[in-house]
Amino acid sequence: MKKRILALALAAVMALSLVACGNTSNNNGSTNNNGASDTDDGGSTGAQKVGIAMPTQSLERWNRDGSYLDEQFKSAGYETILTYSDNDTNRQVSDIQNMIADGVDLLVIAAIDGEALNTVMNEAGEAGIPVIAYDRLIMNDNASYYVSFDNYTVGTLQGQYVVDTLDLDNAAGPFNIEFTAGDPADNNAGYFFQGAIDVLQPYIDSGKLNVVSGQTDFDTVATAAWDTQTAMERAQNVLASYYADGTQVDVWLCSNDSTALGVAQAIESDYAGSNQPIITGQDGDEANLKNLVDGKQSMTVYKAVANEAVVTLDLGKAILSGEDVNESLITASGWDFECAYDTTSYFTSDGNNCPSFLLVPDVVTTENMVEKLVDTGYYTQDADGYLHPAA
Ligand code: GAL
Repeated sequence: MKKRILALALAAVMALSLVACGNTSNNNGSTNNNGASDTDDGGSTGAQKVGIAMPTQSLERWNRDGSYLDEQFKSAGYETILTYSDNDTNRQVSDIQNMIADGVDLLVIAAIDGEALNTVMNEAGEAGIPVIAYDRLIMNDNASYYVSFDNYTVGTLQGQYVVDTLDLDNAAGPFNIEFTAGDPADNNAGYFFQGAIDVLQPYIDSGKLNVVSGQTDFDTVATAAWDTQTAMERAQNVLASYYADGTQVDVWLCSNDSTALGVAQAIESDYAGSNQPIITGQDGDEANLKNLVDGKQSMTVYKAVANEAVVTLDLGKAILSGEDVNESLITASGWDFECAYDTTSYFTSDGNNCPSFLLVPDVVTTENMVEKLVDTGYYTQDADGYLHPAA
């Protein structure tokens, strides 16, 4: 319960700091090379120092993650350095190098490109700095632990939503479907896509789902940097090439909210049909929750990143105090949310397992959004029914 209250208090702090972000020049994603776009700091208090490297501020969720993590570690007495690297891998490498030079005791990194941090990870290893791969796996053995949500399950939830909503086991069909996946540089993207495809493939094989474009290969449907505009443009091309004759698209399976936003825009501007296709998403971003209310998106897979930060803090504390970390962290921490310790799912490029703490994602629709997001304190609802991050 204490942890839940802390998470909710952090939601409030984060909303305030998001407002602050808009007004400061050093926290806008253009991190300078001297280290931090945002540094703590009570000066040299002798406290241990934690470097937090987030990918970008251009996607809403990472602002939440950065703020939650920063506040968590600060309120536990650590100094922090927080950087956003504008989705630029080279910048993230130099941001992390600056943190190492700054003498951090622990690194928490959400990688832009899980394969591209090898050199800097080796530098962290040589300096004896433990690394928590946050949300996205880093494909290097110097990543000591991985904290994330069950990424494959995110995809199966999206796929199952389509199965249930179209009642694919009973309806005659066939239904037309298209796919938009995430960033190939992000190790998570393949898991999301595979989870969805594994649920939907039997229906594609039986002909109940028809991929009119024929585009089901991950690399073909992927979206560099999870970029909304890129997703919109590909959707416009698909609509122009395969649906301009009035063919109906029933489902557009999108791996996350930023891509779903682009697809929803393309449907609004470029779709000849009159139905509203089912569009899936992930993250519960504010603009997408508005689209849910407006009927332009059907669902989002919500991940309570405040809890992800709680797990990261407790894991970080245990590592920094030299404890032998394993499954017992879960019972010892007394979290009031589900988290599994997994040593069989995530492997680095060298084929070694990265021990993982995996939280549980949840489906949010207009039916349950108040219960899941408002009653839990993460969002407030205005008179028009739209949700806004709690302040
Ligand atoms: C993934 C993350 C998702 C989504 C996406 C785009 O790695 O797990 O929640 O935010 O990146 O940033």
